[in-house]
Amino acid sequence: MTTPLQTSRVPVAIVGAGPAGLMLSHLLARVGIESINIDIRSRKEIEETHRAGILEQGSVDMLLDGVSDRVLRDGHRHDGIELGFGGEGHRINFRELVGASAYLYPQTDVFIDLADARERDGGDVRFSVTDVSVDDLLGSPVMRFTDADGVAHEVRADYLVGADGSRSICRQAVPEAERTQYFHEYPFAWFGILAEAPPSSPELIYSRSDDGFALISQRTETIQRMYFQCDPKANVDDYSDDRIWDELSKRVEPNGFTLKTGPVVQKTVLPFRSFVQTPMRYGNMLLAGDAAHTVPPTGAKGLNLALADVKVLAEELEIAIKGKDLSALDRYTERALDRVWKAQHFSYWMTSMLHTHENATVFDNRRQLGELAMVTGSEHGRRYLAEAYTGWPIARKDA
Ligand code: PHB
Repeated sequence: MTTPLQTSRVPVAIVGAGPAGLMLSHLLARVGIESINIDIRSRKEIEETHRAGILEQGSVDMLLDGVSDRVLRDGHRHDGIELGFGGEGHRINFRELVGASAYLYPQTDVFIDLADARERDGGDVRFSVTDVSVDDLLGSPVMRFTDADGVAHEVRADYLVGADGSRSICRQAVPEAERTQYFHEYPFAWFGILAEAPPSSPELIYSRSDDGFALISQRTETIQRMYFQCDPKANVDDYSDDRIWDELSKRVEPNGFTLKTGPVVQKTVLPFRSFVQTPMRYGNMLLAGDAAHTVPPTGAKGLNLALADVKVLAEELEIAIKGKDLSALDRYTERALDRVWKAQHFSYWMTSMLHTHENATVFDNRRQLGELAMVTGSEHGRRYLAEAYTGWPIARKDA
């Protein structure tokens, strides 16, 4: 016997229950606006998807505002980074330059905090759903799905938000004539590992060598996260632990750093791409986070951008819903993209300054070293990097 279709109505339906979707429902709940989140992934699957690990101060503040203060206990404040090139390390001191810091707090922990907070606050979040589709986006949008118990649902909403990641079905629902897409592809990827080892350095090391780029990041006292530039077609099975440590050490040791090694417990190849779709609105559907834009991982802006998007979106949805002012939704794209394009530039710039490529000439390599020397050797250069890394203020509504 098939169970009947469950129909319901809610002000905001959110496709996606990753950090962007859950932070949005949290922010809406705080101003008394009800929503529902759905996700095709299980909670466990999302918890085990390793992504970047750096939060801007503004992202930390969003967590502290009613989600959880665990970031203050389990996260680590980093007041700078090391840039390795030309045989030595160059510290960029964020605190001294711009009075701000970044926090090492992995995306998986951000997700856990948000999922726990939604559960604590009685939020309606459905994981492991199937058959997701969206419809009537120019009118009163509909979100359809089958829940984990096999019950089919049809949720009608005033607004639908696509916070469903880089393979977003919501983004794909926007007709081609109604949107513009901007792409940039890179001729390399990152090989990412988790290793059982103590930290190699108190702060993150971004290291450029003629053999390519490497990033030495961290997770805990006993687990470290590291990356090195690789071919986008690289196969993780071709990389033994010895080969991985060899690739990493030849990229960081010439710059004066020593790696603490140990068993590699996880390996993945991360794609590299810059992408923006605009506008971030189609009728009564709004896109947020990776659904609307992706950045390469250099500089760890992806999660921070997603959280900044939903902060702006929650403000504009509140105005649209409570004040019945629809121009609020038009402002969303403009306000969100202001930051997105700055982050696109920063991620592209960090990437191109630190990575080598197959066809690089000796000239290209020397020029790159010249750029790094200029950035680290001038107060302006260091300040630009520090300001972008620690994050910009969110554009004001009336800006
Ligand atoms: C990470 O720890 O995963 C990480 C940190 C900084 C980045 C990218 C990734 O720029």
